Amino acid sequence: MESLAREKIKKAVVTAKTIEELEKIRIKYLGRKGIVTQAFKEIKSLPSEERIQEGKKLNQIKNLIQTLIAKKDKEIKLRNRNLKNEWLDVTAPGLKPQQGHLHLITQTIREIAKIFQKIGFNRVRYPEIEWDWYAFEGLNMPPNHPARDNWETFFIQDLENKKYGKGILTPHTSSGQLREMEKKQLPIRMLNIAKCYRRQSDISHAPMFYQFEGLLIDKDINVSHLKGTLDFFSKQYFGPKRETRIRPFHFRFTEPSFEVDVTCVICNGRGCSVCKEGWLELGGAGMVHPKVLANGGIDPQKYSGFAWGWGVERLFMMKYKIPDIRLLFSGDLDFLKQF
Ligand code: DAH
Repeated sequence: MESLAREKIKKAVVTAKTIEELEKIRIKYLGRKGIVTQAFKEIKSLPSEERIQEGKKLNQIKNLIQTLIAKKDKEIKLRNRNLKNEWLDVTAPGLKPQQGHLHLITQTIREIAKIFQKIGFNRVRYPEIEWDWYAFEGLNMPPNHPARDNWETFFIQDLENKKYGKGILTPHTSSGQLREMEKKQLPIRMLNIAKCYRRQSDISHAPMFYQFEGLLIDKDINVSHLKGTLDFFSKQYFGPKRETRIRPFHFRFTEPSFEVDVTCVICNGRGCSVCKEGWLELGGAGMVHPKVLANGGIDPQKYSGFAWGWGVERLFMMKYKIPDIRLLFSGDLDFLKQF
């Protein structure tokens, strides 16, 4: 009898759909005139032993009903709330995720490569761990030559090759010149962009930095080709108003050698406190030395060429007037986000 009643109550509560229906069930059993309330009244007249027994059972039923109703009440309220308040406006604009960008140096490298690609230069990369021969001796800088002092070189302990000399971290991309010549594919239009290493550290020099080295070798190449190529690049990278000039200089691996200047990006060549006389230095260049051609297995009687090697960071710093190279390696988001 009692278990039947339990099943019946359970069923009634579980199938209730509204709060009102649930309330009716509660009143039916637990209200003032409810079945359970009445039953409590009725057992009062029973002998004490029986009364205690019946009382226990009734209390269990009462607790059961209360628990079932509370659970169902929660369920119905949750469903009602979902329907009424929790709606989604699919037309509302979304939250944009933060967007990053390629590092400024990567961007600059790609821009440089794209400009030279337009005039037929192919991008290549050569080892950063290099032999003395490719970085110095083969470029006409014999051991102990004082010119080597300008390339404050990191030597690698215990790394030496009988033919090519000591192992070093390449101090410039010029080491790619001989490696390119060794491919024996003439004419050459090479653009070697790579990391270089030197023992240096101040606002315009970092121990690790990037250079881009150009090398063109063909028949009947002269200085005007060099001037035209580098002028084309400057105008593409800095804007059409930029003028370039070449100044005599000295490098062991070029003859004649030059430094290439561009009109100052701040004063447009009029002269200001940054440039003094209207010109800013871009970097070195020159006609490839006949000895270097011969070291690369190319006949200097038949072929000639020009080369240049400039700093990637320096170029970027000139264009955007950045005062300290270390900003480019710091990972400082306040700085990086400005570009
Ligand atoms: N390798 C030189 C340096 O790191 C730059 C350079 C000068 C490269 C003249 C060249 C060149 O190709 O022709 O300072």
